[in-house]
Amino acid sequence: MIDSLIKQWDGENVIIRHDKPTGAWIIIAVHSTHLGPAVGGTRMKSYSDLEAALTDALRLAEGMTYKFAVPALPYGGGKAVIAIPPDIDEKSRADLLRRHGALIHQLGGLFMTGPDVGISSADMDIIAETGDPYVHSRTEAAGGKGSPGPFTALGVFTGVQVACENLFDDPSLKGRRILVQGTGSVGGGLIELLGAAGAKVLFSEVAEDAIKYFRDEVGLEFVLPENLYTTECDIFAPCALGGILSYETISQLDCKAVVGGANNQFAVPKDADSLQARGILYAPDYVINIGGAMAIMGMETRGWTRDQAEEEVAACVRNALVKVFELAQAEGITTAEAAHRIAELNLSMDK
Ligand code: PHE
Repeated sequence: MIDSLIKQWDGENVIIRHDKPTGAWIIIAVHSTHLGPAVGGTRMKSYSDLEAALTDALRLAEGMTYKFAVPALPYGGGKAVIAIPPDIDEKSRADLLRRHGALIHQLGGLFMTGPDVGISSADMDIIAETGDPYVHSRTEAAGGKGSPGPFTALGVFTGVQVACENLFDDPSLKGRRILVQGTGSVGGGLIELLGAAGAKVLFSEVAEDAIKYFRDEVGLEFVLPENLYTTECDIFAPCALGGILSYETISQLDCKAVVGGANNQFAVPKDADSLQARGILYAPDYVINIGGAMAIMGMETRGWTRDQAEEEVAACVRNALVKVFELAQAEGITTAEAAHRIAELNLSMDK
């Protein structure tokens, strides 16, 4: 299984390490260095087995290649996945992060990392103890620019605006019903921006604390996870884990567009056709969720200010998504296919 997964993958390198002290697996997948050194988050969670973790790492690394290729930024695509046992304690987790940093350091710049699901900026500080200078998104106290979440959220918010222009010929979000799945650093940031723009925000979440906060304190309408797909809304914004758009869930959707920040939203590529057949507009995930990585790399390696980073992200997502929608329309193809073509074209160019 593992050898066929790697053989079928069209990326460059996969490094797999079994971490004896914790029983964790560290996987670093470098999909492409064609446009520059591979950049991608480190994701930490429990998986059913090594195959599931490897599958996630390979797909996520490929997603990063396409993410940077659409606007032709000078980075390649990679991802790190740390598959942990469910009961890992604080101290072992920190030591594991240090060993992950040491591995990244050994790679000597082949792969640069930021945070992803299950990893905070405080964790990046720990990884950087051994992984410096290839570790990004550290806390401000440690000399980094903190969480990429708000910038990813801004890019997704821009995607929502462009989708509304496309659907209603009106960029205003006033009164639009937008259902946000997941209230983590991206979903939470998106909710804030949507609320400020006058949208009617609904949310779905599984973590009790977050449900209480957004329902009781912020006052938003809570959608039970079992009603997620059938709830009527203008825009469905998946901002949790990937793989949520499948043949089954797409047939239940009662929205006009899917515009969210989660990586790898389709269970299988042909789900893009099912979505189009239902007349639902899709903003390709990797086109609109580039904000975090783009802003953090810009601020930490190119000297951008926060304001500049915000401007760059909003402009980048707007231009890219408009182009994707136009190409899809002109060629009669899905928006997913249009994004893929734009990325492939940039990847086929000489540097
Ligand atoms: N999690 C980010 C993404 O999926 C990765 C990232 C964040 C990379 C910050 C670099 C800096 O795009």
